[in-house]
Amino acid sequence: MLLGKQGAGKGTQASRLADHRGVPHFSTGDLFRAEAKEGTAHGLEAESYMNRGELVPDPVVVGVVEEQFRRGTFDGGFVLDGFPRTEFQAVELDRVLDGQPVDLVATLDVPTEIALARLAGRRVCENCGTVYHVDHPPKHDWTCDECGGNVIQREDDTEAAIERRLELYEREMLPIVQHYRRQRRLVVVDGVGTGDEVASRLAAAIEARVGPDVET
Ligand code: AP5
Repeated sequence: MLLGKQGAGKGTQASRLADHRGVPHFSTGDLFRAEAKEGTAHGLEAESYMNRGELVPDPVVVGVVEEQFRRGTFDGGFVLDGFPRTEFQAVELDRVLDGQPVDLVATLDVPTEIALARLAGRRVCENCGTVYHVDHPPKHDWTCDECGGNVIQREDDTEAAIERRLELYEREMLPIVQHYRRQRRLVVVDGVGTGDEVASRLAAAIEARVGPDVET
């Protein structure tokens, strides 16, 4: 599970890690954006909160996560990104996992000024969600390298919504961090540096806890 403030690089690292380990990358933010695009009831409800930088209500979030576990999406392992976001969600996740707690909870630690600079330059594929930055754009004219979709700025990457998300992060994260500290599952990983540097630190933290990836 990856925690960290907005712009810490959770989505970027979760996607790399999931590819490397051959398990699903589950991002509640990506799921809500996809559902909003399809116009589902959950998606449209979530979108109204997301665009303001507010948290989607707990019952909606827990409902969609529980549904994924029920379908067996995560039976072979998973990387969670953006969930849990409240203490209630963390407690509900323990219930859903039914006595089989997550192996590791890694917090990507990044100073707010760096996170803000990353968010200001972030661009995402509106089709598959691949994340880019104005300093690391796709190869061809803002067309996604992975799927050919349009690469755009996220609707909640406005100054007001970012400010609100960071404010909520400070408020909601402390009890979550304490929750996983009590379970002795939390490690803090320095999130400053290149994507490769952060990925190596994360891999080392995972290896120390759950052992090496069989493919490496
Ligand atoms: P979500 O989609 O989860 O967004 P977020 O938490 O605001 O996090 P971000 O996506 O902004 O940051 P990130 O850490 O993933 O950074 P990234 O890798 O993209 O949630 C959006 C909304 O959905 C929430 O506000 C809420 O409304 C709702 N929601 C979602 N889950 C919820 C839940 N559980 N409960 C309630 N509501 C929920 O990187 C950012 C930029 O930096 C990119 O451009 C990237 O290329 C660049 N970058 C990354 N790493 C590096 C590096 N090492 N060096 C330089 N640049 C880098």
